[in-house]
Amino acid sequence: MIERTFVMLKPDAIQRGLVGEIIGRLEARGFKPIAMKLMHIPKELAERHYAEHKGKSFFNPLVEYITSGPALCMVWEGENIVIALRTMMGKTNPQDAAPGTIRGDFAQQTGRNIIHGSDSPESARREIGLFFNDYELQEHKRSVDPWLYE
Ligand code: RTP
Ligand code: MG
Repeated sequence: MIERTFVMLKPDAIQRGLVGEIIGRLEARGFKPIAMKLMHIPKELAERHYAEHKGKSFFNPLVEYITSGPALCMVWEGENIVIALRTMMGKTNPQDAAPGTIRGDFAQQTGRNIIHGSDSPESARREIGLFFNDYELQEHKRSVDPWLYE
């Protein structure tokens, strides 16, 4: 099923110059970009985004990390993209992330794991709504789509 997910390249990915490399992987997979914006996320929005982790020991450092510089907030579309993207990202702790995954190839620590992806279609809808207005989501057809989807 074609669905959408929310993807964030965290501030360390921007600082380390990994944006092109990571977006290149999503493009090469054939996923479709629907929205992108570079944003220094306000603390309050970061706290709402990660509300499920409120009260955990890593919550405050996590909010600090996510708000430490601009992040690239995006919406991408594709076949089962929520799970597909999580697989491409690799495990939360980069030490457990397989080589070939984004975290497995470019990160070392959980607290600097460079990318976020929604963990379910419901989370995706919630997170897309937190970061984007409807008019920022670009509906478009691509001539290559019939070569990706039968
Ligand atoms: P994300 O939400 O960022 O895509 O990551 P995730 O689903 O793989 O992991 P999640 O459990 O949702 O954790 C959110 C982010 O919090 C930081 N974290 N630190 N020190 C720790 O034990 C710890 N656990 C999580 C990571 O930045 C993780 O991506
Ligand atoms: Mg998560």
